[in-house]
Amino acid sequence: MFLTSKRLCFLCPQLKSSLANIRLGYNAVFVAIRNYKSCLECSIPAAEAVAVKDLNIVEDFITEEEEKCLIKEIEPKWRRLKYQSGHWDNAIQDYRETEISKWSRQSDSIINRIRSVAFKDSDLQKTLVHILDLSADGYIKPHVDSVKFCGGVIAGLSLLSPCIMKFVKEDEPNMWIKALLKQRSLYIMSNSIRYNYSHEVLKNKDSMINGEHITKDRRISIICRSEPSPDMNSENIFQNVVIPLELGDENT
Ligand code: OGA
Ligand code: MN
Repeated sequence: MFLTSKRLCFLCPQLKSSLANIRLGYNAVFVAIRNYKSCLECSIPAAEAVAVKDLNIVEDFITEEEEKCLIKEIEPKWRRLKYQSGHWDNAIQDYRETEISKWSRQSDSIINRIRSVAFKDSDLQKTLVHILDLSADGYIKPHVDSVKFCGGVIAGLSLLSPCIMKFVKEDEPNMWIKALLKQRSLYIMSNSIRYNYSHEVLKNKDSMINGEHITKDRRISIICRSEPSPDMNSENIFQNVVIPLELGDENT
């Protein structure tokens, strides 16, 4: 869910609460939902329902000033880093990346704002913030973030350029969602869209949504993730996997 709100209020989880409804008024909520849907393209209504539930987008999450401040702080980190073609699993093309743990006071307050909007108090958060710089030709192929390294919530702030993020249900490719991530917007994916859908950032030439081409230029994303749940890293995960009986195998 998404708010065009001039930062009137934060986003969907709050929006869904009756408190936010009272604060915004039902009309504003209705407009926010309509605007949210206009930034989506979904293959079928069931996919749209998943987006409304599990994908939050906050437009204008930061001001132009704040964007400049973040960029100024990030740019020196690339000094000796060239764009690479191919991530370790080849999921990302024409990119460079780093992780930041210590921020200036102003940037720190922005990062904390992301954290307070994206995570619940009970979520364990990664302290390192992932910074990904995609060149104008860069893109991210479909993937699901490894459950070994990342928990149930992924929040990303888009700087310098808009892009289209596409989500495709892993076992049902006809269920897909495209979302327009505007410059300075924040997205938060959780639940089903985080675990059961792949996500990708489309190449500039494929950057189409609702029949419109969105120019994807160089884009920097600031990504905060929750820590993986301890169960995902232990042998126990296999206890939850049901191995089907070999039905019809007459040799057993
Ligand atoms: C990733 C990823 C998305 C983004 O690094 O795994 O999906 O917004 N990044 O850059
Ligand atoms: Mn990812």
